[in-house]
Order: sequence, then structure tokens, then C-alpha cells
Amino acid sequence: MIARILILLSGVLILASCQSDSTRRNTADAQIEKRIDELISRMTVEEKIGQTNQLTVYGTTEELCEKIRNGEIGSLLNVVDPADINTLQRAAVEQSRLGIPLLIARDVIHGFRTVFPIPLGQAATFDPALVEQGARIAAIEASAAGIRWTFSPMLDISRDPRWGRIAESAGEDPCLTSAMGAAMVKGYQGEGADDPTSVAACAKHFVGYGASESGRDYNSTNLTERQLRNVYLPPFEQAVRSGAMTLMTSFNDNDGIPSTGNRFLLEEVLRNEWGFDGMVVTDWNSAGEMVSHGFAADTKDAAMKAINAGVDMDMMSHVFSLHLEDLIDEGTVDEQRLDEAVRNILRVKFRLGLFENPYIDTARIARVTYAPEHLEAARRTAEESAVLLRNEGGILPLDASALRSVLVAGPMADAPAEQLGTWTFDGEPDHTVTPLAAIRAAYGDRLRIGYNPVAAYSREKVTAAKLAAFTAQAASYDAILLFVGEEAILSGEAHCLADLNLQGSQSELIAAARRSGKPVVTVVMAGRPLTIARDLANTDALLYSFHPGTMGGPALIDLIFGNAVPSGKLPVTFPVATGQIPIYYARNMTGRPAAGNELLLDEIPVGAGQTSLGCTSYHLDAGFGPLFPFGFGLSYTTFKYADLQLDKETYLPTETIRASCRLTNTGKRTATEVVQLYVRDRVGSTVRPVKELKAFDRITLEPGQSRTVEFELPAEDLAFWGLDMQKRVEPGTFDLWIAGDSQSGNSVTFTIN
Ligand code: BGC
Repeated sequence: MIARILILLSGVLILASCQSDSTRRNTADAQIEKRIDELISRMTVEEKIGQTNQLTVYGTTEELCEKIRNGEIGSLLNVVDPADINTLQRAAVEQSRLGIPLLIARDVIHGFRTVFPIPLGQAATFDPALVEQGARIAAIEASAAGIRWTFSPMLDISRDPRWGRIAESAGEDPCLTSAMGAAMVKGYQGEGADDPTSVAACAKHFVGYGASESGRDYNSTNLTERQLRNVYLPPFEQAVRSGAMTLMTSFNDNDGIPSTGNRFLLEEVLRNEWGFDGMVVTDWNSAGEMVSHGFAADTKDAAMKAINAGVDMDMMSHVFSLHLEDLIDEGTVDEQRLDEAVRNILRVKFRLGLFENPYIDTARIARVTYAPEHLEAARRTAEESAVLLRNEGGILPLDASALRSVLVAGPMADAPAEQLGTWTFDGEPDHTVTPLAAIRAAYGDRLRIGYNPVAAYSREKVTAAKLAAFTAQAASYDAILLFVGEEAILSGEAHCLADLNLQGSQSELIAAARRSGKPVVTVVMAGRPLTIARDLANTDALLYSFHPGTMGGPALIDLIFGNAVPSGKLPVTFPVATGQIPIYYARNMTGRPAAGNELLLDEIPVGAGQTSLGCTSYHLDAGFGPLFPFGFGLSYTTFKYADLQLDKETYLPTETIRASCRLTNTGKRTATEVVQLYVRDRVGSTVRPVKELKAFDRITLEPGQSRTVEFELPAEDLAFWGLDMQKRVEPGTFDLWIAGDSQSGNSVTFTIN
């Protein structure tokens, strides 16, 4: 039982541990602040500017060491060899005037060597504890290589699957993204930041980047302050509350202001409202790019605008190292602002214990990489992240004992690098287990397993003759397992698409499999929701696996053969057609909502009058609804929701709403359901979303078993930024659902007085 209760309980525990942590933190902080003061008092302006300068590795180690000895570099990214890191660190600690250690950074986005599913897949687990474990493992492996700062979690609310970076996000929802982000922060930073296996988290990209116009990367966003505060900022606030030590500004300009020069966001919101005392880094060259934006006249102007807005460290645009000294001399930048930036940077270095433990045990990496428990966690995450979208006639799970042969096909069946997904600099295809390898290992002795990729890679266009030969081959097997999707390079940064249909000949491949007359099971491995409406009709079952990482193969084969039961739910809405984008469940209530009986293109009589169509909000060719809603996912069992109840009808804004329902496993398999609690605020001082996710939990039930699932929702969680741009709970009537996705279920009503 106890959905939110669990969340709440863990909230209470977190709170409890936060309290004891914060006492420790205060003492440590006082000592740290003293050490920072002492250090800053001895620093020259050049040395201070050096701390604000982050560079990627370049040239020879000796060239870098020279700059480090001179105090010109505060942080390096993309160095991953422990011995090299020790050499560089020695230059900083033993050979520079002040001995300030370097902060070594890397994009460890979903695992280091052991690669977990892409973050969008991790979000599909709705399992923060598992996600926290994955981040912990990533930190253990990365810190063994000498990395103490990762540019993760990515907290951009992503409602546009054209945007390639949706792969790095937790999807469309602020509540889910906040939970996933907090879990990652805790996992990366571990028990205490000064633990040598802890890695500083970086909440990015601050802010609004996921709303890039037309889903094209680096494009402008135009979010109002209210949208920012109600939707885009909450995951960052939660990350700050969870102790995220750093934060990265985003590339986009919002309403004409590049994030890297946005003083309102960096000073007012982040520092003053949220009390953030960590460090703000730019994205790669985003300070320099304010010149391309036409927001800064030249790189000097850019440096001035970035530091005065509240940026502490410049990643790779060199504008601080080039211009800060002159800007201070001229008085356009106050040296106190520079001191504050240095203070924020040094605080992270002190908290990480780098002054005490600057070096790495170079033998550790061999001991920790690919530890069995790391691989097992990666396998389990891949298993929980897969979402079953279709299962006609309950064809899945396949019964291996009832089959003699299986044909494994498609370009993703044996594509180790592709299944790792985007941002896997350190993942190794050689250690990756593909579905083909997994099925051979598990069933090779019992089944005749054929293999035909048909297309060598996802974009390849194959001939009709090749497809016809495949149909003929498929007819000689008992079942076809098709692995299609996207190569890793098709999603991630700068990899946006305007057409979201399966690439190359993959839809034709699914149709060719269908023509064999044999059962067809399709697995889509992709970095984003694809428009798969036309493919669904040609497959008996479809399992969606956001690029599942190192252990994707065994996880998927276990699911297909019923050694595991799908429990993943969609963290993002799947559109019928690309033209519906942005389509997300928490849309505002419109004045003319679709009624569901609207005429579609083919149903409209020729010559129909202008006002004959009902005048509601929908597309003539795609209708109104999504292909699959947020929160959706099938299981091998069925769940029944009943007895939705509240403990009261009326609450004060200070009270807690206790909601419960009876969940029954009405099928034949033990399985886990992601139970979701949604709320609608019927009337607000500004228009409110149709529904908002407020809590969720994973509940496991045996066949026939029932359980009362209870949630505790503090009424203050209903607060939003309304007409007067203040955050508060507005009294009135609310609807509440507990359901298995964002579109189903009955509701109960309560009021807030
Ligand atoms: C990306 C960031 C990343 C940084 C460092 C940038 O291009 O936008 O997300 O952390 O590079 O690699």
C-alpha cells in the first residue's frame, strides 16, 4: 500500500536525514567558509579568474600542466585517464602557488562504463529508488576514473519529440522530472560529497531549453514567467533542495534573453528565492554565443553580461580569461562579484574533499567497472523501463516450450553501439549484450534461432526483393522477433528530426514480417517517441525500449519470454502524427475542448458548410487524442481500480489529503503497476491544466491479490503561480483520480477552503 505514503514516508526520512545532515553541513560549512575566506584573501585577480575558467583537454599533458601551474584553469572536462588526472592534479596541488585542486568533469549522463537506459527510459520506470541506484553506480565508476563532477541530471521538461535531447530528459512532466532529478542528485552525490566516490551533480539546462521552437536544437523559447514557474522551474528547485552542487545555464534565449545572461533567473530565482549556494557554470561556449545571439556586442561584452548575471564558471568560451581583468579595471565588473564566483567554485571543491583527497587510486577503476551488481542494476532498469504498448491476443510472453524456432530480425537486434543511445562517451560496445546475444545465450540450446538484420542500420533503404525474401524466410519460423528503432546518433544534442516515422525501410520490414502469417513481436529501441501508428497494425505485440544500454538484450529477452513482466509507463505522450506536437496531457483547459465525436477528414461531407464541424479543438487529419497517453503501459496481467475514496470532502490549505483506492491484480501473473494520482483544479485565477500528476508509486500484486493503495497529498502541493504571480493554493473545487495512466479512471471531488 502506501503510494504517496511511501513517498511521504521517504520524504519524512529524507527530511529527518536532511536535518541531521544540515547540522553537520553547518559546522562543515563554517569551517569551509573560513578556509575560502583565507584562500581568497591570498589570491591575485589572475588566480581568481583562473578558477572561473573551465577548459576541455587539449594539446599535451605538459602544455596543460603549464597553464595549471600558473593558476589559469579551475576545471577540466573530458580527461578520463586516472594517471593523467593525477599528473594534472599534481600540477595544481603541488606545483601551483596556492595548491587549489582541479575539478575534473565529464558528461556521465546515464552511466559511465556500465550504461543504463537513456534518462527518458529511466523515467519510464517511475522508480526513483532504482534511478538513484543507477546514478550511484555511475558515480562509483566515474569517480574511479577521477571524475568528480557530472553534467547531469538534465531536467528540461520535454514536450517535443522532434527535439533530439528529449532522450536525455525525464519527459514531459514536472512531478516525474522532479522525482527523477532528485533521485539522480542523491545517487551521484552519495552519502556525503566528500566521499571519494561522490560526484557533484549539475542540474541542467537552466532553463526552458526543452521548449525550443519547432523542436530544433539551440532555437529560441518563448515561455512566460508563469509557465516557467509552474512547469519548467520546479524540477530545478527540487534538485537544489536535494543538494545539487552545481547548475548549468542553457543555450536558448527565452523571450529574447539568453539564459547565460539572465540575471533574473540566476540571481532572483536561483540565489535569492531558492537559496542556492552552489556553482553556476555556462553550457559549452554559451557565454561566447551571446555574441551570435546579438545580445552582446563582442566577447568582452559577453563576459561582462555573463558574470554580472550570476555565472560563476565559463565552460569553453574563454571570455572570462580574456576579459575579466580589464572589465574589473574599468569598473564594469565589481571584483566582489568575481570573489563571489570564486567562492561558489571553491565551496564545491572543498565540499568534495578535493583539498584533502586530490588524487585517485589508479587501481580502483579495474575493480569497480562492470561489477556484477552494476550489470544487474542496469539489467533491472532496462527491464523496468520497457513499455508494452500492444499485446494482441496476449501473444506475449512467448512460451519457449511451445516454440521450435524463432527468427530474430531488424537492424537493432545486434547493434551494441546503437542500443547504448546518446551521450555514451565511455560505454563500450564490446561489453554490451544485444538481444541476439541474449536470446542465443538463454535459448540457443532449445530453439532454432535464425538471424537476419535485413537492414544494416536503421536508416538503410532496402529493396522490395530483399523484403520479399525476408517474408519467405520468416514463414519457416514459429515466431518473428523484430528489433527496429533509431541508431544512437539520431537522438541527443543537435540531432533533431522533423519526421518521426521509423527511418529507412523499417515500417516496410514490419509489414513484410506480417505477410509471413507468423506471430510478429516488435521491439522499438529509440531515443524518443516515434510516430508508430501505421506500424502497430502490422505487429501482434510492440514493446517500446528507450535505448536500453549495456544490458538491454537480456532485459528484453526476459520480458519477451515472460521471465519478467513489463511495468514501464510512458514518461511522455506519443503523438499520432508529428503535426500534433506539442501534445502533452497537462494542457490547459481550452474554451472549446474536443468532445471525442469530431469528424475526421474522410468523414466530412463534400461541400460541408463552414460551421458544420462542431468548432472544437482538434486536427481534421489526426483527431484530438494521442496515440498513447502519458503514463500508459500494458502488463501481462490486468489491474482493476475500485473504491476511490478521500478521508474528507473539504480541506484547509495546510491540511493533507488522504486518498485511497483498491487495486486488484485480475490477471494470472504477479506484476507491478505504476499507480498514478492526478488532480484538476477546476477554477483558477489563471487557466489550469486539464490534469496534473501529483504522486505515483509502484505496487506489486500476485494474481487475485488486492491492496488498498493510499496516498497522502499535502494540500500545499496544489499551489501554483496565479494571476498575481504569487505561489499559493487557491480555494475551490478539485477533481482527483487514481489510475493507471493520465487518461483513464474515475474521479472524486474535494474542496479547499
Ligand atoms: C551540452 C551540455 C554538456 C556540455 C559539455 C554541451 O554541448 O549542451 O549538456 O554538458 O556540452 O559536454
